[in-house]
Amino acid sequence: MYSKISKISSTSKMHTKQLDKYVGQEVTLKGWVANRRESKTVVFINLRDGQGMCQCILGIEDLGEELFAEAKSLGQESSVAITGKVVVDERQIGGYELHATGLKVYQNAKDYPISNKEHGVEFLVDKRHLWLRSQRQWAIMKVRNSVIYAIHNFFQSQDFVQMDAPIFTGNAAEGTTDLFETDYYGKPAYLTQSGQLYGEAMAMAMGKIYTFGPTFRAEKSKTRRHLSEFWMIEPEMAFCDIFENMDTIEAFLRAVVQEVIEKCPAELEILGRDISKLETIAKPFPRLSYDEAVEILKGDKDVEGQNSLKTLESDLEIVNARILEAKAEIAEREATIAAGGIKKGVINFNQSKIDGLKNELKQLEEEQRNIPNWLKSARDFTYGNDFGGSDETVLTRLFDLPIMVYDWPHEIKAFYMKRNPEDPRFARGVDVLAPEGYGEIVGGGERETSEEWLVEKINEHKLPLDVFQWYLDLRRYGSVPHSGFGLGLERLVAWVCKLDHVRETIPFPRYYGRLEP
Ligand code: 4AD
Ligand code: MG
Repeated sequence: MYSKISKISSTSKMHTKQLDKYVGQEVTLKGWVANRRESKTVVFINLRDGQGMCQCILGIEDLGEELFAEAKSLGQESSVAITGKVVVDERQIGGYELHATGLKVYQNAKDYPISNKEHGVEFLVDKRHLWLRSQRQWAIMKVRNSVIYAIHNFFQSQDFVQMDAPIFTGNAAEGTTDLFETDYYGKPAYLTQSGQLYGEAMAMAMGKIYTFGPTFRAEKSKTRRHLSEFWMIEPEMAFCDIFENMDTIEAFLRAVVQEVIEKCPAELEILGRDISKLETIAKPFPRLSYDEAVEILKGDKDVEGQNSLKTLESDLEIVNARILEAKAEIAEREATIAAGGIKKGVINFNQSKIDGLKNELKQLEEEQRNIPNWLKSARDFTYGNDFGGSDETVLTRLFDLPIMVYDWPHEIKAFYMKRNPEDPRFARGVDVLAPEGYGEIVGGGERETSEEWLVEKINEHKLPLDVFQWYLDLRRYGSVPHSGFGLGLERLVAWVCKLDHVRETIPFPRYYGRLEP
């Protein structure tokens, strides 16, 4: 049963984002109680309506005793409609405040499991269906939405045709080790690892296409970069070589990041993202061959006077020194509190400093553990191998914008990669590594056009030739040089938002060991 409504405004489809147009007028906002505090005669509610937040002030005089008592009893995440006058208040989130005259309670929620205190991340992932309502998660989902929109904007404005590749497939495009196998009317089928092969077919029909769809990889690795189900964007372009491909990747990433910076300043601020670190995207991306990248990684070649190994060594010294400093300061402040005889304000001040220092310490100690591993990985790197997560971190720490690494040893790349005609030791693949330690966000390259070389590679990779006959047709009838790439949506969002883990970039993450909620 709904409670009494004292007054409902005609603008009942209002959202917090439109408040600027209704200053001085009465409106009704519908949403959830993000939090509530109260005094004897006033209740303050931060109302969350999906679009933003608004502080609502509910006074006993305006509401009457019955409704006021109800307002006072509202638990976190109660669903309500609040009617009131819009008042400008720069200090409030969103810049406005609602002086309430009416309240309608849809549901008074009790014991909401997520409070403002620190919860462990496993707990929060278990409660993902609710966690999505918290402010940081809200901001991430808004950024994800803007990234998606910007991706379509870029390709549509350049006359690419969006296509949907099948999800059930008989073709292993990216190797056989991480396939999810299913039963397809009695025959084995796989959930797609990549729409690329179908994208190549469509590019021969349309010229330029892009896919935007779910992608599946049975990777039993619990890293901050791996999901079992993620969204990939795969453009494919006819009459395009690896260098034109790199031009497209660069223009694409630049356009997307710039659009997100423009559209999501508030969301990025909630996330504490330093936007200047994203604005460097305007500069040309460094392009390195695999050989150059290995030299840099192993410390045999410097980047603008910076050496990979020496930088790590000096970073470790700085981290060690700062840890000692922070620990000393914590001890000192704890002693001040323990000694007693100081005002409550001074205690609180010291305590909040201690909390901040402990947070910093957590991050520093993680660096203290990581840096020696990165150093070892860089020193021990064997030429010819693929880069691991640590190697990518070491490399990208030296740059302040994405780098493109091209011309990889052909043995470590997928069967469809074109060999460099001038030096067939290399395949014309390109990986884009995001800065700030994020690593690979894009993988792509020029495709092999020779039927003979492709057949050789399919056999070398021990893939069944019969299921690739349709793909070989593309080389039999009007074969042209063509290229494309795949962007991992969640990895891009993780970097743009500077998140520790890709699991927060997708509404309901699927990764090794996680199928629920
Ligand atoms: O480098 P990958 O495997 O390349 C391909 O699949 C090509 N067929 C793309 C193409 O040329 N059309 O994957 C492309 C991108 C990676 O750079 C990464 O961003 C993302 O997909 N990715 C993952 N993201 C999250 N979790 C995983 N397990 C991922 N595996 C790849
Ligand atoms: Mg890759």
